[in-house]
Amino acid sequence: MSIAIVFGASGGIGQEFVKQALKRHAVVYACSRPSADIVDDTPLPDIKTMDNGLQTVKMDVLNEKHLKQLANQIINQYGHVDLIVNATGILHDSNGLEPEKKIEDFNLDNFNKVFQINTASTALIAKHFITLLNKFDAQPAILAALSARVGSISDNQLGGWYSYRASKAALNQIIKTLSIEVARRNKNTAVIALHPGTTDTNLSKPFQQNVKPEKLFSAEYSVQKMFQIIDNLFIEDNGKFYAWDGSTIEW
Ligand SMILES: NC(=O)c1ccc[n+]([C@@H]2O[C@H](COP(=O)([O-])OP(=O)(O)OC[C@H]3O[C@@H](n4cnc5c(N)ncnc54)[C@H](OP(=O)(O)O)[C@@H]3O)[C@@H](O)[C@H]2O)c1
Repeated sequence: MSIAIVFGASGGIGQEFVKQALKRHAVVYACSRPSADIVDDTPLPDIKTMDNGLQTVKMDVLNEKHLKQLANQIINQYGHVDLIVNATGILHDSNGLEPEKKIEDFNLDNFNKVFQINTASTALIAKHFITLLNKFDAQPAILAALSARVGSISDNQLGGWYSYRASKAALNQIIKTLSIEVARRNKNTAVIALHPGTTDTNLSKPFQQNVKPEKLFSAEYSVQKMFQIIDNLFIEDNGKFYAWDGSTIEW
């Protein structure tokens, strides 16, 4: 039975990943927080079974007890996972966190928050789910993290956005490092970073004014393009950073 997990499932891109994953997988766990900006320190994730294979999971991706419980439940019930997508991410919030225009805007608390959500979340997911990514048929089991082209160090032309850029560059390093470990431990697993293109969601809303209409994608379109990559992935693609159109991005 084919199992997928989407973290950040309440987000613009995450919701669409859940929708399109349900067409491909028998069971899809859609994981999101009970409500924004509330630290959820309850010991157990709240899992509800819905129609058509959807399992909604109220949990915090930064809460290791929740990750551990969810992993245990999936191991006991199914024994493996075919696809994990981490669509969690932050660029700005309602508490004054904004991407920095200049270095004087740098704020340590905001930097720490952005790093926890954009970078550490994928490491924590990998920590608790790596042993479940153990498929043995033609297509590899896949862990895909939503990164961003601005995280590419070699592609940095514009500057600015210190914390977000650095968090995505660090996420890319986590993916690259993890790809080396899974090549040793999980022979049929691929971990990749994905750039969705500028996509019309809450995250990009305040920054859309200079984006040409044809360069601003609907979440439906950008996830369709990312699923084309995921559906056609080979084990040799482990450790790559893909843009929405299937081209690879230099780290
Ligand atoms: N939209 C774009 O143009 C664009 C471009 C490049 C890269 N990306 C990347 O794509 C991913 C998805 O972005 P999106 O556009 O779908 O953004 P979004 O609509 O704002 O969704 C982001 C999701 O991240 C989770 N999140 C945010 N703050 C959190 C926190 N403090 N703690 C835990 N979870 C938190 C939330 O999920 P829950 O509340 O469900 O936990 C939220 O729904 C992000 O990693 C983003 O960096 C987006």
